[in-house]
Amino acid sequence: MSNQIAPQNHVFYRNQNWHYPKIAYGKGIFLYDDEGNAYIDGCSGSAVANLGHGNSEIAEHAKKQIETIAYTHLSRWTSDPIENCARQIAELTPGDLNHVYFVSGGSEATETAIKMARQFFTEKNPDTSKWKIISKKHSFHGNTLGALSLTGIVDRRSIYDPLLINFPKIPQFYHYRNQWNCQTLYETSVKAAEALEEEILFHGPENIAGFITEPIVGSAAPGIYPDPIYFKMVREICDQYNILLIVDEVMSGFGRTGKMFAIEHFDVVPDLLCIAKGMSSGYTPIGAVVASDKVFNRIMIDGSGQFKHGHTYGGNPLSCSVASKAMEILVRDHIVENAALQGHYLMNKLKTLSTLEMVGDIRGLGLMIGMEFVEDKKTKKSFDTKVKMSTEVTLACFDEGLVVYPGGGSFKGILGDHILIAPPLNITEDEIDQLFEKLSRAIKKVNAIFGGENE
Ligand SMILES: Cc1ncc(COP(=O)(O)O)c(C=O)c1O
Repeated sequence: MSNQIAPQNHVFYRNQNWHYPKIAYGKGIFLYDDEGNAYIDGCSGSAVANLGHGNSEIAEHAKKQIETIAYTHLSRWTSDPIENCARQIAELTPGDLNHVYFVSGGSEATETAIKMARQFFTEKNPDTSKWKIISKKHSFHGNTLGALSLTGIVDRRSIYDPLLINFPKIPQFYHYRNQWNCQTLYETSVKAAEALEEEILFHGPENIAGFITEPIVGSAAPGIYPDPIYFKMVREICDQYNILLIVDEVMSGFGRTGKMFAIEHFDVVPDLLCIAKGMSSGYTPIGAVVASDKVFNRIMIDGSGQFKHGHTYGGNPLSCSVASKAMEILVRDHIVENAALQGHYLMNKLKTLSTLEMVGDIRGLGLMIGMEFVEDKKTKKSFDTKVKMSTEVTLACFDEGLVVYPGGGSFKGILGDHILIAPPLNITEDEIDQLFEKLSRAIKKVNAIFGGENE
């Protein structure tokens, strides 16, 4: 597969053993390197570039905003861009999620949610023992220390473990590898929700401030989602034990799953919603926590009136203005509806690959789709970690001119290989055909080497 040559310059990259092609420019769903090679961005970076690359409408809008005012500090100033951006988000988010606290990315959003949940309880009782946030074993909520404390992926945590907060972890609604031998997604979802109640009772509800979950999982086990019973039960459990429900839509938000927010597939309203990525479609770093009336009122109206938190770039006019434009285009051009349509079309095509020996599971909603690879389809045995199967598939795709997002750790913490397929949401049917041809050729090539005969 592709050559891996260490880069030689002053950049501290993530991986010194990876050959980084140099990007020249991007247009629509395509990326072009400086040697003239074209790649389909089959994962929108990391499910970020929902509107594709090189959008000149956003570029012109950003230029005007920079000339007007690019930066002010949120603790001193308000401005039209931040007020408009917050209003649009409040209009797009479900229920009474009406209050937007701006940050600069996904990890800042989940960290902020932890602190907001804690302050929600200290406002009423400064001596409250409620502080723990329950999260999932198969989850990713970011790489800063608070966010990593919520994260379940073993490989991302392991060397930092001594620095992390010991938050409780419960099993995911991971039907393909469910630990209860459930035969249906419904049963798995019920068991996974019951696990939340068990964990709350184990620690004592008086010590739990919140429960955080992705509605559809991103990098930890891409594309898995529960039956609607899960969120119905989880909402009831959180209410019963006075625990805030925090939904992390950093990856799934803004149309990725064929609805504006993935939680709308399940018809519940969380207390806090974490957003980033698709919020600006990657045209500027931005994120937010959207608080319900209940949380906002407790802290800001009936309580101290001050949220003890903040970052320098949170709520800067430039980022808010760019995000506003991206959201305007998302709605105006019916991009969310397109994601649903093209997601369905792509999923039907992908299912034809499920006969290949190494393709264990294909799942997802809209254009947030995961493929999991196994050595043995019947037993679901994973490949040895030495094989680095998700890297093999990623490199084979790269050779075909397709970028996908690899991952691992979905089985027993360290085993398991998968890829995330998440192209820009304005992709056309013809472009889906091109993406599928490339992916299909790449997977068949790898399957011929590691998975036995192609069927
Ligand atoms: C669900 C989820 N939460 C949080 C994050 C962290 O976001 P960031 O990388 O912007 O800090 C990610 C990133 O992939 C994510 O997918």
